Amino acid sequence: MPAQRPKHQSARAAKKHHPRLQIVFLSHPQRSSHLSPSAPAPIVQSPRREQISDLRSLKPNTELEHIMKLANKIALVTGGTSGIGLEAAKLFRNEGAKVIIIGSNAQRLKEAEQALGEGITALRADLRDPSQIDRAIAEVVETHGRIDVVYANAGAGKAAPLEAVTREQIDEQFGLNFNGLFFTIQKAAPYLSNGASIVVTTSFLNAVGTPGLSILSATKAAVRSLVRSLGAELAPRGIRINAVSPGPIDTPFATKLGIPDADLQKTGEALTAAVPLKRFGTVAEVAKAALFLASDDSSFVTGTEVVVDGGLSQI
Ligand SMILES: NC(=O)c1ccc[n+]([C@@H]2O[C@H](COP(=O)([O-])OP(=O)(O)OC[C@H]3O[C@@H](n4cnc5c(N)ncnc54)[C@H](OP(=O)(O)O)[C@@H]3O)[C@@H](O)[C@H]2O)c1
Repeated sequence: MPAQRPKHQSARAAKKHHPRLQIVFLSHPQRSSHLSPSAPAPIVQSPRREQISDLRSLKPNTELEHIMKLANKIALVTGGTSGIGLEAAKLFRNEGAKVIIIGSNAQRLKEAEQALGEGITALRADLRDPSQIDRAIAEVVETHGRIDVVYANAGAGKAAPLEAVTREQIDEQFGLNFNGLFFTIQKAAPYLSNGASIVVTTSFLNAVGTPGLSILSATKAAVRSLVRSLGAELAPRGIRINAVSPGPIDTPFATKLGIPDADLQKTGEALTAAVPLKRFGTVAEVAKAALFLASDDSSFVTGTEVVVDGGLSQI
């Protein structure tokens, strides 16, 4: 059998001819509240599910539980107060899970809890502090006794060119994106049920070099590696771990990178042009990939990464 590598290599070679993304640093004081310059295309859903947006609103019965993908599961979602995590929490809840969301901002936690309603518990923890993760996991276990799904999704970044990167920025980004994610998994591990699923959020940045985002990209590459190592360690317990790798997604994430408003706009336009599908992705598109990995639909999938980036890192 010929190896598959030549196809992969040729895709990479083709990528070299794409215009490179530029993050330009200008001194604009304001930030854009919205990075996506174009509206997303309509999403095609399965006919059965598009008519039932919240399966939990129907009366529970065994038939209904049968079609729910996470019926009776206990799911922990970090970064569940905003963007991708908020949407995933809603989807997991609608698919039958009891969902616990974690965030560090009290106001956002309150708003998310109110917006999500029944079936969701919000816990406050700064994931850069392992003792706060300990406390949050203890609370989940005290209430539910076990964890079936961990979606370790919380993340943040700071943009800075090589010469401007500080040690604090490195510690801050690795502290949340790698250490926080690692200790969430480590501390949840003793309470994971047999057949549990761990999903993490990486990024297209772990495969595409982007000026000004070296540290954020490195944190995501480290997490991609972790998925393989922990996949090997946890497989004997029947526990799977996989990553969802989003491309540019329409969330508040980019507005927190510290990029001035005008540059953010330009970067958004450059990204849209570079994405083969010519748009930003939606949180729903990422959440559905996370649901696939969290549920038994992916029961023979572990150690891998599902890329949801409109082809940006692959074509
Ligand atoms: N949006 C994109 O284009 C994109 C692309 C590739 C990858 N991603 C990844 O997707 C994940 C979700 O990002 P998003 O786009 O949904 O961004 P977002 O809307 O900014 O959400 C980030 C989440 O992380 C939480 N968080 C931040 N710092 C925290 C801390 N110290 N402790 C606990 N929670 C913390 C936030 O909650 P609090 O504010 O309450 O702390 C929030 O719920 C991230 O890992 C990001 O790297 C995003």
